[in-house]
Amino acid sequence: MNQPHFLCVIGAILTLSACATPSAAPRVSTAEPGTIAYDRDVFQTLLGNHESIRRETHEIATGIETVTESDDPEIAALIRDHVVAMKVRIENGARLRQWDPMFVAVFDNADKIHMEYENTPKGIKVREVSDDPYVARLIQAHAKMVSAFVARGTEESALAHEPPAR
Ligand code: HEM
Repeated sequence: MNQPHFLCVIGAILTLSACATPSAAPRVSTAEPGTIAYDRDVFQTLLGNHESIRRETHEIATGIETVTESDDPEIAALIRDHVVAMKVRIENGARLRQWDPMFVAVFDNADKIHMEYENTPKGIKVREVSDDPYVARLIQAHAKMVSAFVARGTEESALAHEPPAR
């Protein structure tokens, strides 16, 4: 009588179906995650696939709430990968794109930016806030710029963006 226990069978089915669900970001870079080269390969892939990305933004008094998604599961995974990587950069002050004044201002104020996220079925929901009223406006301006990246891809990312005046 060596029948597998009912709960073991259910457990095995759940484990197998979890493994079959594509959740990891596709490999779009040969560089090490966490490097500028890796992050660039990810955001260039997002820019190149901007037509498959949609985004809703909602301004709140202290910043923004956004939902950014794609029906393509690999692009959805890359959007999540990008947001997690950018949160780490904000927390560590690890600057990028410093030829663009908007990004200079974002990293100058990184210690006043608080970012939280949760995955949605097709992407990610982000809440980004600051107690500092100027930084709240800066977060809102950055979010508008991300929406322009989604709308126009590399045509928009080739441009420099002015941060709000103080
Ligand atoms: C289609 C292209 C892109 C998409 C879909 C995208 C998506 C996002 C999302 C969802 C966030 C969280 C904040 C928010 O929702 O407003 C974010 C933050 C960020 N992104 Fe991107 N992004 C794109 C392109 C880029 C590019 C080209 C760069 C830099 C070269 C970049 C750098 C950052 C940084 C530094 C943050 C954190 C700073 C902040 O949110 O204030 N992103 N991005």
